[in-house]
Amino acid sequence: MLSESGSPALPDTIPVTLTVNGQERRLQVAPWTTLLDLLREELDLTGTKKGCDHGQCGACTVIVDGKRINSCLALAVQKDGAHVTTIEGLSSGSLHPVQAAFLEHDAFQCGYCTPGQIMSAVALIEEGRARSRDEIREHMSGNICRCGAYANIVDAVEDVLKSKSSSFREAAE
Ligand code: FES
Ligand code: FES
Repeated sequence: MLSESGSPALPDTIPVTLTVNGQERRLQVAPWTTLLDLLREELDLTGTKKGCDHGQCGACTVIVDGKRINSCLALAVQKDGAHVTTIEGLSSGSLHPVQAAFLEHDAFQCGYCTPGQIMSAVALIEEGRARSRDEIREHMSGNICRCGAYANIVDAVEDVLKSKSSSFREAAE
C-alpha cells in the first residue's frame, strides 16, 4: 500500500516478541515505538526511567542480549526476538549484589538515575573491562547523575568488582 506521498505506508502496528525478565511477551506495537516506551507504557515496567529521551543521560539503560543499551534509542521492532532485562528483573528474591552495594554505599540521592546506573554497572562487571576506579568512571560515563552521587556509585561498583575477582581467585585456588 502507498501513502498519499507515494511512499510505502507503514502498518499501524507490527507484531513483536520479546523475552522480558524471563517472560515471553507477544505484542503489537506501532513501528515508531521505542523500547523504552514499550517497557514503560505497554508493560508497566516503570523502573526504567526516561530522562533525556535522546541517548544522552543513560537513565533508560537496560540489558539486551547481554549488552547495555539506551532503550530510548532503540525501536521495539528492531529488538524482535531479543532477551531484555530491566531493573525489575535483576533480583530473584534477594537483591542483586550491585543493588545491595548501592544501598550499602548510599549511592543515590534522588535515585532517578539509579536504575540506569545499576543496569550499566551490572553489564560492565559482566564485560570484565573495568579494573580500576578510573575505568569504572570511563565505562560508565554515559550514565549521568545530576545529584552528583558519583563517588558513592564508583565505591559501590568497585566493591562488587573486588568481591567478584576475589571469588574468581578462590575458585581457581
Ligand atoms: S532517556 Fe535514554 S539516554 Fe536519556
Ligand atoms: S541520584 Fe539523582 S540523578 Fe543520580
